[in-house]
Amino acid sequence: MSTKTSRIPELSADEAAAFVAHGDIVGFSGFTPAGATKEIPSAIARRAKAEHAAGREFKIGVVTGASTGDSLDGELARANAVLFRTPYQSDKYLRAAINKGETRFFDMHLSMLPQMARYGFLGKFSCAIVEAAAVNDKGEILLTTSVGASNTFCHIADKILVELNEYHPQELNGLHDIYEPLDPPHRREVPIYKCSDRIGSPVLKVDPAKIVGIVRSNRPDEIGGFKEPDAVTKQIGENVASFLANEIKLNRIPREFLPIQSGVGNIANAVLGALGSNPNIPPFEMYSEVIQDSVIDLMRNGDIAYASATSLTVSPPVLKSIYSDLEFLKKHIMLRPQEISNNPEIVRRLGIISINTAIEVDIWGNVNSTHVMGNNLMNGIGGSGDFTRNAYISIFTCPSIAKDGAISTIVPLVSHLDHSEHSVQAIITEQGIADLRGKDPVQRAREIVMKCAHPEYREQLLAYLGHTKDGHTPQTLQTVFAMHQAFLAKKDMRGVTW
Ligand code: COA
Repeated sequence: MSTKTSRIPELSADEAAAFVAHGDIVGFSGFTPAGATKEIPSAIARRAKAEHAAGREFKIGVVTGASTGDSLDGELARANAVLFRTPYQSDKYLRAAINKGETRFFDMHLSMLPQMARYGFLGKFSCAIVEAAAVNDKGEILLTTSVGASNTFCHIADKILVELNEYHPQELNGLHDIYEPLDPPHRREVPIYKCSDRIGSPVLKVDPAKIVGIVRSNRPDEIGGFKEPDAVTKQIGENVASFLANEIKLNRIPREFLPIQSGVGNIANAVLGALGSNPNIPPFEMYSEVIQDSVIDLMRNGDIAYASATSLTVSPPVLKSIYSDLEFLKKHIMLRPQEISNNPEIVRRLGIISINTAIEVDIWGNVNSTHVMGNNLMNGIGGSGDFTRNAYISIFTCPSIAKDGAISTIVPLVSHLDHSEHSVQAIITEQGIADLRGKDPVQRAREIVMKCAHPEYREQLLAYLGHTKDGHTPQTLQTVFAMHQAFLAKKDMRGVTW
C-alpha cells in the first residue's frame, strides 16, 4: 500500500486527546494488549486528571476488542476516567473499580460486540482510536498485532485517530483479512470452509475524511510472559492430550484432526504444549481468538500447521523473532476481525475443539468462568461462550483446587453461571477427565466428582449428592451454597457436612 499521508495532520498525543470529550463513547483498537493504542489513551488519562483537578467531570465509555494494556485500561482506570467498559478486561485497577461499583462494566460474548455496536445498542461512537503499522490518504489502514473490532469502530465512529506505531513493519501487509458481514436481513454465509481461507482485504478501508489525525509512536505491546507450566498445569495438559488422542482412536475425531480453539493463560499454554508433544495427535490447525507464545514454538516444530485468530499476543522477544521472518509469519498466520475469528457459524462448520479454563464447575456440568464467590468479576466471558456453545467437542479445564486446597473448584452449584450443562461436554482437571456426553444429571455428577474433584473433597461432594433423591437434578436448595458460605466464613471449604 502507498503510505502518502500529506492530507492527514500529524498531532501530538495531547492534541489528539483534545478530540475526545466528557461522555464520549470511544472504540479503541486492541485485543489483549496486542495492537492496543498506548499514547492516545495515556494522554486522555492525563486530560481526565487535569479536568478533575479543575473540578470538572471527565469520563468516557471505553469499548475495545477485549482486554488491553496498562496504557489504556490501567491508566484510564487510575485516572477515574471510565464511565463504562465493555466487552472484557483483565486489568487489576479496572477490576477493582468495577467490583467497588465505581465503574459500570457489562460482560459480552466477544463475537457479538461488533454487531451490537453496529446495531446501535451501545450508543453513538464519537471516535475510533486505532493502532496502525501504516496509513494513507486513501483511508487504508494497515493494522498491527490484532484486528479485534477496529474495523467496526472505524466504520461507525464519527472520527478516527490513528496511532502510527513504527515498532511494527509495513511488511505486515498480508497478515490480516478484514471482512465485515452485512446486517440482517441482508447477511449471507461467511464463506470460510477451512482455517486458511481468505475472504476479505489485507487492509482496513475507511472514509479518509474521517481520519482527523495521526500520532506517531514506537512502542512494543505491553504483554507479560507466562509462568512455566508446573506439575498441575502439565498434568491438565497431558489429560487433555490423552482425551483427544483417545477420541481419534475411537474414530470420533477424524485422523487428520479438527481445528483447535484454546483460551489464554497459563493452563492454555500448558495444554497446547502437551498437544504438540503427544505422538498420537497429528499436526493441527487452530481457529482461535488469540495466538500466544506456545503456538509459535509449536509452529516452528511443525506441530501446528496454521493458525487463524484475531490477535497475535506474543511476548516482545517472540514478536521480534517472528518479525525477522515475516514470510514464515504470513504463511502460517492470519488475523481476522473478532466477529469472524469467534463466529459461531464458522465454529460449528469447521468442527472446532474448544478448550477453555473455568474458575469453578458444578457437579452437573455448569461452568463459571467469570466470578469469584458469586460477586466479584475476574475478567469476563471473553470468547469462551462463542466457541463452547458451538464446538464439535467443548472442554473446560481447571485445577481441582485453588488457594492451597481451601477452595474446591468442583462445587454443588456454581456461584455464577456462564456456560450451562447443555454446552459443556468434558471437564478436565489434573485429577482426570469427566466425559459428560450422553449422561443424565446424576451420572454427570458422579463422573465429575469421581474423575475431577480433588480426593480431599470427593467424600464431601458425594455426601451432598446423596442428600436428596428428589427430581431429575437432585439439588438441595437449603445447602447448595454451604461450601461457598464456609469459605466466606472461615476461608476454607473443607469439612462441610450436609
Ligand atoms: N474461587 C476463587 N478463586 C479462584 C478459583 C475459585 N474457584 N479458581 C481459581 N481462582 C483464582 C486462582 O487462585 C488465581 O488467583 P491468584 O491470581 O490470586 O493466584 C486466579 O483465580 C486465576 O487462576 P489461575 O488458575 O491462575 O487461572 P488462569 O490465569 O488460567 O485464568 C480464568 C483462569 C478463568 C480467570 C481465565 O481463563 C479467564 O478469564 N477466562 C474467561 C475468558 C476466557 O475463557 N477466554 C478465552 C476464550 S478464547
